[in-house]
Amino acid sequence: CGIIGYIGKRNAVPVLLYGLQRLEYRGYDSAGVAVIDKTGNRIIVEKQVGKIKDLQEHLWGKKIEGHLGVGHSRWATHGEPTVENAHPHTSQKGTISIVHNGIIENYLQLKQELIQKGYKFRSDTDTEVIAHLFEELYTGDLLDTAFKVAKKLEGAYAVGVISTYQPDRIVAIKKGSPLIIGIGKDENFIASDIPAVLEYTKEFITLEDGEIALITRDKVEIYTKDGKRIDKKPFRVSWDVSVAEKAGYKHFMQKEIHEQPRTVADTITGFSSSKDEKLFEMLKDTDRLYIIACGTSYHAALVGKFWIEKFAKIPVEVDYASEFRYRDRIIDDKTAVLGISQSGETADTRFALLDAKEEGAKTIGLVNVVGSSLSREADYVLYTYCGPEIGVAATKTFTAQLVALLLLALETGIKKGTTTYTDYEKIHEELLHLPSKIEQLLQKDEEIKEIAYRYMNASDFLFLGRNINYPIALEGALKLKEISYIHAEGYPAGEMKHGPIALIDEKMPVVCVIPQDRNYEKMLSNLQEVKARKGKVISVATEGDRQIKELSDEVIYIPKTSDYLYPALTVVPLQMLSYHIATLLGKDVDQPRNLAKTVTVE
Ligand code: G6P
Repeated sequence: CGIIGYIGKRNAVPVLLYGLQRLEYRGYDSAGVAVIDKTGNRIIVEKQVGKIKDLQEHLWGKKIEGHLGVGHSRWATHGEPTVENAHPHTSQKGTISIVHNGIIENYLQLKQELIQKGYKFRSDTDTEVIAHLFEELYTGDLLDTAFKVAKKLEGAYAVGVISTYQPDRIVAIKKGSPLIIGIGKDENFIASDIPAVLEYTKEFITLEDGEIALITRDKVEIYTKDGKRIDKKPFRVSWDVSVAEKAGYKHFMQKEIHEQPRTVADTITGFSSSKDEKLFEMLKDTDRLYIIACGTSYHAALVGKFWIEKFAKIPVEVDYASEFRYRDRIIDDKTAVLGISQSGETADTRFALLDAKEEGAKTIGLVNVVGSSLSREADYVLYTYCGPEIGVAATKTFTAQLVALLLLALETGIKKGTTTYTDYEKIHEELLHLPSKIEQLLQKDEEIKEIAYRYMNASDFLFLGRNINYPIALEGALKLKEISYIHAEGYPAGEMKHGPIALIDEKMPVVCVIPQDRNYEKMLSNLQEVKARKGKVISVATEGDRQIKELSDEVIYIPKTSDYLYPALTVVPLQMLSYHIATLLGKDVDQPRNLAKTVTVE
């Protein structure tokens, strides 16, 4: 979820709505604003199910004016996306309104206590307890009350509070979920991240866990959880509002697929120009590397394992961050943990990395968003250089993550002496050709669209790959299910005969990732097994491979490259295929149902 708050000279409503639009990547199933009107005696709360534009439409013609307000864009955790469950939540007397990002883990217990005291709950959310708690514990001062409320809450939260009791302030509390304060002239802001208010200010303070802030029109005071005032110097950001435009493309996802030649090239250059020698020194002495991530970033991690084991000779374990956090992993002072996250805000990845850090692991973050939580929390940071990725389905950040991981593996290998200069040079050279090879693939848009048209009505898809291209089968399946809602599974091709083969019949399209690498022959046998059961074969194969044409129903050719680089090419037609299937089916590819670009709860 995304939260925002404003106090100052402007009308709060447009500022809140603008900010919420920038925060929509954090969730978009419902949204709302709460504004204290000009008299200071009344909180006006407006909420709507759906996206920010639905809230905007709902507000059209309504004259709401006030200089103090909070807003929220939700991704449902506790309770369905309904108006009642949408934030802001307001205390029983209608005097206190709050917005919250995170999960209150002890909310059931708190709810019981409050019900016994006579509080009535209107929503199924964990958040509503915070609103009632503020009322229950109110001491005559909102800041003072915030210390008391924070002591009661367990879990993760970033909360913004406004009240008619003191209609000249916002109070914010933070633990686990990110919160920044934007400092303006005669106005101040709170938000889940910087771009939400970048239109209005470039000066920021980041709240750390446990800190509590008092924000008025002309001052910001920060306190530790024990009430000690601390002096935090604001920092300035130099970037501009990157007004992400579709630039002639129909969807952000399509634009982002087409940006890959540039983002891959930028990540190669960016990696070389910001090498942190200390990172490679550390990795030289590492005995075990865990790579943790979620979703698409997890698939990049799986490919990264092959490269790091091959070139840097470090044993690698890849884990879903949400699994890694709760298992008895083995960590000592020679263990490193690499967290991969486009946003750098995914709660599962951040918390797992922080736990490992506390146990003594060296931590590395690979992120796209500069200044994100993970980039500040890890000991070392690597970046992908993609600019903002708006489409919920990750595309350009995936290929850039691959590039960064390969370069990390090669660089560590050279420093450690486990890679020869000849190999290093050869792969580097190939890497430099990658952008133009992706460019060639993008020319196949119409061809891929036709294939999409022929298979768009299938109810299931199977994606097969081997070795370094097996994670690409997983990613191809994820892309398809995320945006088209067609059931799809990715499988290691050799494992197909141990189960999924039972699913194959003439109605089942099977996408085979089969470049001409050292696994080609084995992959070919698996493809024949599909054919023998009348499955429809869509192959992603290397240019010049004639026999594959005989054996497949459809072939998408990709340019030839080194065995190690194929994943960065084979994934591109799969992104295009799912994009076209989803758009032909009329789905909202940029904001598919139930998903969020960044999931900030566990
Ligand atoms: C969400 C998105 C996925 C994304 C995953 C990890 O679930 O819907 O597309 O891959 O988060 O995001 P991250 O920002 O950590 O890479």
